[in-house]
Amino acid sequence: MMEACDCVVLYNSAATAEKPGSREKSYPATTAREDVGAIAGSLAGAGYRPEVIAVGRVTADLIRRLLELAPRFAFNLCEEIDGDSGMEMAFAGLLELLGIPFTGSDSFALGLALDKFRVKQLLEAEGIPVPLGGICRPGSTSMFPPGMKFPVIVKPGREDASLGVNGDSVCATAEEVGRQVRYIHDVYRQEALIEEFLDGREFNVSVIGEEEPEVLAVSEIDFARLPANEPKIVSYRAKWDETSAQFGGTTPICPAAIPEGMKERIDSIALASYRAVGCRDYARVDMRTDASGAVYVLEVNPNPDLSPQAGFAGAARAAGFSYADIVLRISESAIARGDRFEPAIHAF
Ligand SMILES: Nc1ncnc2c1ncn2[C@@H]1O[C@H](COP(=O)(O)OP(=O)(O)O)[C@@H](O)[C@H]1O
Ligand SMILES: [Mg+2]
Repeated sequence: MMEACDCVVLYNSAATAEKPGSREKSYPATTAREDVGAIAGSLAGAGYRPEVIAVGRVTADLIRRLLELAPRFAFNLCEEIDGDSGMEMAFAGLLELLGIPFTGSDSFALGLALDKFRVKQLLEAEGIPVPLGGICRPGSTSMFPPGMKFPVIVKPGREDASLGVNGDSVCATAEEVGRQVRYIHDVYRQEALIEEFLDGREFNVSVIGEEEPEVLAVSEIDFARLPANEPKIVSYRAKWDETSAQFGGTTPICPAAIPEGMKERIDSIALASYRAVGCRDYARVDMRTDASGAVYVLEVNPNPDLSPQAGFAGAARAAGFSYADIVLRISESAIARGDRFEPAIHAF
């Protein structure tokens, strides 16, 4: 007989539905998930007995099963529920209600990080540099904060994975901004974020840990092979269409070649951002420099992609850790939380 599981790996099956009118199509790389099997394999290799559960809709059966399994911890890879990324925080909240310790950030940090403008305001209040920007909500026309200069980038206020970011996102005129804002309103049905375009280097900073977080490594996007007519951004195609010129022209290099002083500054900005948002276990902070080399935070990503070929695992390798090392470290953090806290009082 198979021994009972002691942990679960929870994931949402990738959404394949495209928003009507969207230029961001689904490519094989958007639908394949390589994190689930790799994480379950690492856990099994270390003697855990993981049970992998695909979460579609949240049903009474799912809740019953989780309560029956009563796992020591859940490896939480649910980024959305039924295609709705706003439900990522609600799912973490469900685990909190059920009293199941889980990996990654809590419901509050996941919800907060989804709102890029609020995160910018929070970081700014903490003295962390962010690009000057404003939001334009559907139905409103005021969009430009005083002092903002062209070119600007227009992106959705609450999306990830470069959804809504394409070759037209960098705008040089008010007319172009108007067109791109309408695109975000019409297709993504949410506020558009308008920011000064930072015309410098781009860094992804992977952070691991709970009370004493540390930077694993800084990765840089090399834009050298991007066609000259393409803006130097990591657009949706650059992230997901492996056959595109945009993908081939945005190569991550880890560790980035940066002078010691800049590395220290990037690390301290990353850790301050991680703490400000309340990230837990693992996260990635995206940054850019302006033409003068000053560093700014674009966004904070709690629970970033943990696939073996994605940036976080690459940063771990650069820091001398194996894939299994980071999976186990993140899992142990969740277990330790479970040991520390009383079970939640719930009515299930
Ligand atoms: N203010 C900005 N200046 C320059 N490039 C930007 C700016 N904001 C976003 N970008 C580009 O767009 C990409 C996606 O934006 P980001 O805010 O990281 O959203 P996502 O959650 O989709 O990753 C970034 O990786 C970067 O290349
Ligand atoms: Mg990003």
